[in-house]
Amino acid sequence: MVEKETSRTPVKVVGISGSLRKGSYTKKVVQLALDGAAENGAEICMIDLQDYNLIFCGAVEDEADYPEDVFRLRRQVKEAQGIILGTPEYHGSLSGVLKNALDLMSFNEIEGKMMGLVGVSGGNLGAINALNSLRNIGRSLHAWVLPQQVSVPEAQNYFDPEGNLVDEELKDRLNEIGRLIARFSTLHNIGQGQEFIRMWESLPVNPGGRKKP
Ligand SMILES: Cc1cc2nc3c(=O)[nH]c(=O)nc-3n(C[C@H](O)[C@H](O)[C@H](O)COP(=O)(O)O)c2cc1C
Repeated sequence: MVEKETSRTPVKVVGISGSLRKGSYTKKVVQLALDGAAENGAEICMIDLQDYNLIFCGAVEDEADYPEDVFRLRRQVKEAQGIILGTPEYHGSLSGVLKNALDLMSFNEIEGKMMGLVGVSGGNLGAINALNSLRNIGRSLHAWVLPQQVSVPEAQNYFDPEGNLVDEELKDRLNEIGRLIARFSTLHNIGQGQEFIRMWESLPVNPGGRKKP
């Protein structure tokens, strides 16, 4: 049993919201996941693509001619140890704006990082297709995509007119995505054995191939 808490540099977790819509539910669920990461000691940063002057991937041949915001986006993601991606379900997949932002990045920003996924949809089937596509993208960029994910179907029914989430259980599930991303990002980056053990002890049990008693 580890005796005492040791200090450490907090990990950074960025959230990217894949909807440009004013009042977007995607942005709200990404923020709730980020809040969970902050609860577990992470430094958090919301990347709202509405605030970035990006180009379509491939539209400008020479990187020297890219707008500064492409490099700002890359820099912020590269500096982070954990990434939370949020997308609306659009025609059975993720949004084009998020795909384009990811296409403007590469292994350089994403490989080896923890990645958590959250999504919303207007219909009652949820954002499962979008999240599955994002999971493939994360895998192809060699991210460690968290098995847990949160899909919010009929998102408009979960928020009050002021934009607050009204379902406490759902709020906790969204927070938990961030808490897990912060915890595993820290484990990936830890230099101190004591700290590793303390966090290891708070992980869920992995039964491996053993039968449950
Ligand atoms: C282009 C487009 C395609 C959409 N496709 C789907 C869909 O396939 N399934 C679904 O349930 N909702 C679909 N929706 C509804 C959105 O998922 C829903 O409005 C969601 O809240 C949008 O996210 P936001 O609030 O973050 O902007 C679509 C909306 C748009 C604009």
